[in-house]
Amino acid sequence: MRKQIAAANWKMNLTYQQAENLIDDLLALPHNLNNNQQVIFGVPFPYLTMVVDKLKGKRNVFVAAQNCYTKMNGAYTGETSIEMLQSIDVNHIIIGHSERREYFNESNEMLAAKVDLCLANNATPIFCCGEPLSVRETNEQDTFVAKQLKESLFHLIAEQIVKVVIAYEPIWAIGTGKTATSQQAQDIQAFIRNEIAKQYSNDIANEISILYGGSVKAANAKEIFGMPDVDGGLVGGASLVATEFNAIINALS
Ligand code: 13P
Repeated sequence: MRKQIAAANWKMNLTYQQAENLIDDLLALPHNLNNNQQVIFGVPFPYLTMVVDKLKGKRNVFVAAQNCYTKMNGAYTGETSIEMLQSIDVNHIIIGHSERREYFNESNEMLAAKVDLCLANNATPIFCCGEPLSVRETNEQDTFVAKQLKESLFHLIAEQIVKVVIAYEPIWAIGTGKTATSQQAQDIQAFIRNEIAKQYSNDIANEISILYGGSVKAANAKEIFGMPDVDGGLVGGASLVATEFNAIINALS
């Protein structure tokens, strides 16, 4: 059965002290995760160990890196390998966020290699896809997202793809305050699930969590998460405020 997931993506925000305070504040707030719900914190590299330590022993709560490199080790100055992440108990990795694609030229092919490396090491990739505004305006988002899935994920075998979490994040809704309507999120996420079903099977498609990302807030989370093909959210700005993110966790249906 697929998981309901509230995932935070702090991006390049917060000082160490602010990050520590945010986790402490969140831990002090009431939330009740059932066995089928998870919370994942995607935090900047320098804070991973601190957040892992603070969340140790918390059921269904995980820490994610926001990226990793395509190689295991070696002369790649400034990069971080999956081996390094796993050595500090980080086993979830956000792969292919649109900001990585746009500002760091990450291609579908490179992201396929990152997904492979995660899966070969039993780490969970949180694979991001989603279209820019120009594509949405011409109503070609399905074709655009299908290509991202095909080129980065559909080489996987069924036993592998069930281990991937997918986050659909329309670029025009990221950090803009402009959320996709719950119906827009539902339509494309149903399309994504159907593409997986066509490539693999209905059973496989139903096992995969598909999150929505793009201006999710406490005020809209319940409605968006209530859609049948939305299994939670990947949250940027609102994950930086303890009460907001806690309300989003509590909105998991
Ligand atoms: P916002 O929630 O700030 O729109 O960011 C979404 C996002 O990019 C999460 O990865």
